[in-house]
Amino acid sequence: MTATEEVPMGFGRMHRKEDARFLRGRGNYVDDVVLPGMLHGAVLRSPYAHAKILSVDTSAAEAHPKVRAVITGETLAGLDLAWMPTLSGDVQAVLATDKVRFQGQEVAFVVAEDRYSARDALELIDVEYEPLAPVVDARKALDAGAPVIRDDLEGRADNHIFDWETGDKARTDEVFANAEVVAVQDMLYPRVHPAPMETCGSVADMDPVTGKLTIWTTTQAPHAHRTVYALVAGLPEHKIRVISPDIGGGFGNKVGIYPGYVCSIVGSILTGKPVKWMEDRSENLMSTSFARDYHMHGEIASTKDGKILGVRVKVLADHGAFNGTAQPTKYPAGFFGVFTGSYDIEAAHAEVTGVYTNKAPGGVAYACSFRITEAVYLVERLVDVLAHDLGLDPAELRLRNLLRPEQFPYQSKTGWEYDSGDYPRALRLALDMVGYEKLREEQAKRREAGGEQLMGIGMAFFTEAVGAGPRKHMDILGLGMADGAELRVHPTGKAVLRLSVQSQGQGHETTFAQIVAEELGISPEDIDVVHGDTDQTPFGLGTYGSRSTPVSGAATAVVARKVRERAKIVAAAMLEVSADDLEWEKGRWFVKGDRAAGKSIQDIAMAAHSNLELPEGVEGHLDATCVYNPPNLTYPFGAYVCVVDVDAGTGQVKVRRFVAVDDCGVRINPMIVEGQVHGGLADGVGMALMQGMAFDEDGNHLGGSFMDYLLPTSMECPSWELGETVTPSPHHPIGAKGVGESATVGSPAAVVNAVLDALKPHGVRHADMPLTPAAVWCALQGRPIRT
Ligand code: CDP
Repeated sequence: MTATEEVPMGFGRMHRKEDARFLRGRGNYVDDVVLPGMLHGAVLRSPYAHAKILSVDTSAAEAHPKVRAVITGETLAGLDLAWMPTLSGDVQAVLATDKVRFQGQEVAFVVAEDRYSARDALELIDVEYEPLAPVVDARKALDAGAPVIRDDLEGRADNHIFDWETGDKARTDEVFANAEVVAVQDMLYPRVHPAPMETCGSVADMDPVTGKLTIWTTTQAPHAHRTVYALVAGLPEHKIRVISPDIGGGFGNKVGIYPGYVCSIVGSILTGKPVKWMEDRSENLMSTSFARDYHMHGEIASTKDGKILGVRVKVLADHGAFNGTAQPTKYPAGFFGVFTGSYDIEAAHAEVTGVYTNKAPGGVAYACSFRITEAVYLVERLVDVLAHDLGLDPAELRLRNLLRPEQFPYQSKTGWEYDSGDYPRALRLALDMVGYEKLREEQAKRREAGGEQLMGIGMAFFTEAVGAGPRKHMDILGLGMADGAELRVHPTGKAVLRLSVQSQGQGHETTFAQIVAEELGISPEDIDVVHGDTDQTPFGLGTYGSRSTPVSGAATAVVARKVRERAKIVAAAMLEVSADDLEWEKGRWFVKGDRAAGKSIQDIAMAAHSNLELPEGVEGHLDATCVYNPPNLTYPFGAYVCVVDVDAGTGQVKVRRFVAVDDCGVRINPMIVEGQVHGGLADGVGMALMQGMAFDEDGNHLGGSFMDYLLPTSMECPSWELGETVTPSPHHPIGAKGVGESATVGSPAAVVNAVLDALKPHGVRHADMPLTPAAVWCALQGRPIRT
């Protein structure tokens, strides 16, 4: 914060309070934690995608002078810890005992005096494998005779995990049977990785005297992790402290519990010393979760003049070797049910089948609310394919079919209640900002002139469903998704807010302070936000799926209002009037009709801690707690338009412009919202143009470094052009909706639609992400490309 910057007393632009430490290199990440006597762990990983383990010989590693312990699956089996629960109610091997099921799977854990010795000793472990045929292609996972990956599960004779459906099949089939036009498209949302800057890691410290386990760990959900550890280890929660210090990006990568975390705990128990484990980049990319990997068959039905009637979809979901997908229990395909998108349609139906393959487990919500990215991509590609087949302008087709403002709250055909929106306004604004008509004129001229430089204009309209979620519908491993909040105002009028959500760079210490400031009129600088430590904060399910603002943001507003009501009673006692005679203005209570007779929140805080006589039954002090159970999700939305130039000779795509109009309801801090959108847009460009986790036919992972798994840089990103509309959420106390992931959800389809618009004159209707130069070039030549 600069010395001259004005700090808003509530909502508004304000530099992040966190910047002071981040910009000075004073952040405190898990790898910064150094404890006396701390040892270091390293994981031995499988070189095979599928193989029987015949033997594991650790004797040479144990003889290494700096090695303190070698842990194998057998060691863990002796402690009943060889398998752990996943977020989807499956089990996952902590260290393999019987077989390895993906390349990079954890086989052994070495604890040594330093990181290098631990790594060196991995090479001394001799594992004898018997390679088995792997299942790499999800489309072959259910073939008769396909190798059975999960023979550890009793009675398992194939690789099938689940079938799930939503919508009305009969009604949808009827709509399709009678439709004048049906457009069909198969598409793959490739396997991608959240790839946060900081990889995953932990420092576990089991105190042999107190029996208390402290674990500093890269988690987006400290309380949920603590409960899982408590259940697995049979320890009471108060004997486990999970500390999530500064987190260098999560994006869904840090929701699950990974074998390395468990091994560091076991290492600490066995050695009596703190044990640190930090994975390297390749380990993170190969084994610590993935996202998407949805093979989708989509169909869209409409009238000849472009009234969309129905959407029908079949999905084959590749979940890897263990079902570690993150989503509330009742939703095995996450919130994919929102695949009807932002359109007013008559019927919809989706079937999703999940299968095991010999790849890393995960299926995490990479910067999205549980599979919404896949749903948005599907429907937005289908709408473009339909526009292509009907010869209609994609903007016109969307404007004809978008939900109208008067239809809200809108009950979708798959059972979701969209809370509020004005969709046509957002799309029109985006089209105006980009200068749509002029761009189409330019494109027509270029097409007429011919040449290698192709130009494309693409768009996407998205609705997200964020803020999981109402307890009666949503839980993870039986834990309801309500969040606690505690607010304590000190005698001097400064305050401390304690939250269960955990920031990974989203600026919670600033925005949540701003919510309290808005409600109580205390400067955000005078409000300390405490999070990321289970001993210091109330229970709640953590940060992912853009749920912090919808759930903990609401909890913050509610707890601040409770404090305001308590302050009213104290103010009434101070002013010797009835509480009913008082009126609130930001920062103070005053007597109705007599503005001068009032008490500031700071005066009230001091009085609440003094010997002022308070009404019968009113305790002193100024604090409150609350547990917020959201009545519904919030539904942010947006209209994105992308302009690309494609070199037909090389297949190279350049994103020339990108206009993003987002509506996340009331914006607490517009500067932070813009930052969130910028990040998500860059993510979207990455997924659309360069990212895809590839495997060879033996299941070897081909993207284990940033040389192969590409991240977008400023070179690939245009200067983002942002717009906004504000449609408050009617059920959220401050009218805010989540925004953290909107741009990641909406942007890939806009980029892909733009590239395919550029290729349209060459007869290309669809090509799968990532649209690398090779993929684009092959599409132009009419050749298939392996993505
Ligand atoms: O759960 P996560 O923090 O990742 O996502 P979010 O709730 O969408 O919030 C991301 C950041 O944007 C937080 O600092 C929010 O407080 C801020 N935000 C905002 O200022 N206004 C909104 N309407 C939504 C989020």
